[in-house]
Amino acid sequence: MADLWQNSMDHAVAAARRAGQVVRQALQDDRKVMTKSSSVDLVTQTDQRVEQLIIHSVKEKFPTHRFIGEESVAAGEPCVLTDDPTWIIDPIDGTTNFVHAFPFVAVSIGFSVNKQVEFGVVYSCLEDKMFTARRGRGAFCNGEPLQVSDQTDIKQSIIATEFGSSRDPEAVDKIFSSLRNVLHIPIHGVRGAGTAAVNMCLVASGCVEAYYETGIHVWDVAAGSLIVSEAGGVLMDTEGGEVDLMSRRIVAANSRTIAERIIREIDSFSPTRDDALSPSNQ
Ligand code: IPD
Repeated sequence: MADLWQNSMDHAVAAARRAGQVVRQALQDDRKVMTKSSSVDLVTQTDQRVEQLIIHSVKEKFPTHRFIGEESVAAGEPCVLTDDPTWIIDPIDGTTNFVHAFPFVAVSIGFSVNKQVEFGVVYSCLEDKMFTARRGRGAFCNGEPLQVSDQTDIKQSIIATEFGSSRDPEAVDKIFSSLRNVLHIPIHGVRGAGTAAVNMCLVASGCVEAYYETGIHVWDVAAGSLIVSEAGGVLMDTEGGEVDLMSRRIVAANSRTIAERIIREIDSFSPTRDDALSPSNQ
């Protein structure tokens, strides 16, 4: 049976590749840095330009589709997921990396219908790795199938996480207490690529057993969530139970066993949900 969303997915892959070229080129130029919610929540003209390039190209081809884009939301657009076909775009996931030329930067495009992610595209543009997943049809990197790690012993695992861009003292304390608990399990190590999307692709690729973070946004994880589940992994909330992509909390793991073991160590907290964000409280 023909795949209803294949055209959209092909368009997303092409748009992500074009966006990656713009990002790579911009790394050669001066990068003017601006801030959003705090002095460490960075944005550049390249983030804004790439998001507009993607949105314009999609609007031309699929005029009825909706958008949730990181920079459009920062500019005051609503962050609401409806049942309509919706493109969920992070033009540069890893903006801080981009500003510092730290070599992990991704273009992330998720696409949801009836509030369910139908495909995910993450282009790690400095590595030239195109990660893709279509619901029910597997996950791939540059066309090669992905499979999560089969490690069941948390003590033999590497866990990815991030410190995020909140410097609220209570949030920072909880991030550190969770990290201390996880390290004390003990595990082999902790890593973080500086982009949620790439961290999730590392879970899907079997390089790390899990990734968890509180404070991410729907555009950071929409595409990666499908890539993880289509590679055989699981997604959970940091307090257990089903993940809610608007809740800003996620555990992505190779298995339920590893996810639940990490959840036991997480000192959870609840940032303002994405669908309750206004430009002043992002
Ligand atoms: C950020 C990255 C980072 C994560 C932050 C995200 P951005 O996205 O994914 O790894 O720690 O929570 O906001 O701002 O670079 O698109």
